[in-house]
Amino acid sequence: MSRRDIAWYENDLLKDMYIKASSNAFRGYHSPIISPKTTFVGTNSLNDFINHLSAYLSDDDRRVLIVVDKDLHKFGERVANRLSKRNIDSKFYDNVLPDVPKHTVLEGAKICEEYDPKVILAVGGGSAMDTAKLILLFYEKPEININNMSAPYYAGLRRRVKILAAIPTTSGTGAETTFIAVVTDTDRDPPKKTEVVLYEFCPDFVVLHPDFVKTMPANLTTGTGMDALAHSMGSYMLTMSTLFTDMHNLKAIELILKYLPRSVKRGSDMEAREKMQIAAYIAGIGFGNISGGIEHSLGHSFGALFHVHHGICVGLFLCASIAFQAKVTNRFFDLAKLFGIKIQDRDRAEILRDLLVSLRNFMDEVNCPLSIQELDNPNIPKEEYKKQIDQMVDFAFNDYCTLSSTRRINPPQYRKILETAYENKLEDLMDLFYK
Ligand SMILES: [Fe+2]
Repeated sequence: MSRRDIAWYENDLLKDMYIKASSNAFRGYHSPIISPKTTFVGTNSLNDFINHLSAYLSDDDRRVLIVVDKDLHKFGERVANRLSKRNIDSKFYDNVLPDVPKHTVLEGAKICEEYDPKVILAVGGGSAMDTAKLILLFYEKPEININNMSAPYYAGLRRRVKILAAIPTTSGTGAETTFIAVVTDTDRDPPKKTEVVLYEFCPDFVVLHPDFVKTMPANLTTGTGMDALAHSMGSYMLTMSTLFTDMHNLKAIELILKYLPRSVKRGSDMEAREKMQIAAYIAGIGFGNISGGIEHSLGHSFGALFHVHHGICVGLFLCASIAFQAKVTNRFFDLAKLFGIKIQDRDRAEILRDLLVSLRNFMDEVNCPLSIQELDNPNIPKEEYKKQIDQMVDFAFNDYCTLSSTRRINPPQYRKILETAYENKLEDLMDLFYK
């Protein structure tokens, strides 16, 4: 496979250079803060957003491509109706598929060639938002090689489309705030998820309207909420963190610990729904401006082969990610404090153990499985899981999030975590800290 056919972060030399360049010595040299221009929040947020579009778009530019999940047409139609009242035309692209296969993005870009939208608006979960970002890229830069998009993180977008916007219908992915999109490169065998990082992927406008998340089923509330928790806790463990990302991540964790259990138990609890919407958004800014942790490399790899919801995947590896990195950093002390754990005059291992126990209790409370053997949809027999470990190690080691790990991680260490994850016994997790 040539260098052009693999992502830049799979190249050993570039991987090494990136890890060195993002070490403490370089911190503060290159740390831009990327976030949406305007976020409309609350029950009038959709009106606010459409009023803004109406004032901004000239008579020749009043065309919006709505990228919407197939089963969420009702939300797309609600937006389209409001747009038409302000004389703004819209067209749907609804072939949004989980894991964003590359051909769907190219299909969307082709529609843009015919329709010439001036706004691309995602209405949906992470896949819809990632599809919208990638449609923008392939429409405006069809010649781009997505495997080669490292620094300077700019491609020169928004020359044809003026605005990228998002209305999330789940509370977790943070894709409404991040400048990353994941696409499944189906030209590779086996197909591999590739993370495309581009500052211009951060949506200009975001609408956080509680109506768009209130009917989320309990299992999706759990999965997406665990994703938000993994974003904030996983990235807080990274020594690449900044004051800016810490502020967002810590507040997000506090909100999730308080409001996710309520959202799961009673979906009609609108206070909990609204707080989770904010929590997921600020966790998105927190982790989006650094990176996910190794729970994300592992979750991406496991999810690509066993097709479990992304939030559950990263939740399954969150304790391991914290325990593995705790060997070289005390950043988990702040996480422990949020769970009400005493820090002063205590042994580091005791604090970590209490944190893992509290996190596992929390996961149990929100109905998130604690190990791979506890999964029931799909049920994964141990033998079947073991057969895929080599492939998962390879995927995880070549994942973008591996670059940011506070503790350098190699393939044998990934193997140990993956073996541990089948049962995820507390003692085995603690072993990742001791060894
Ligand atoms: Fe995630």
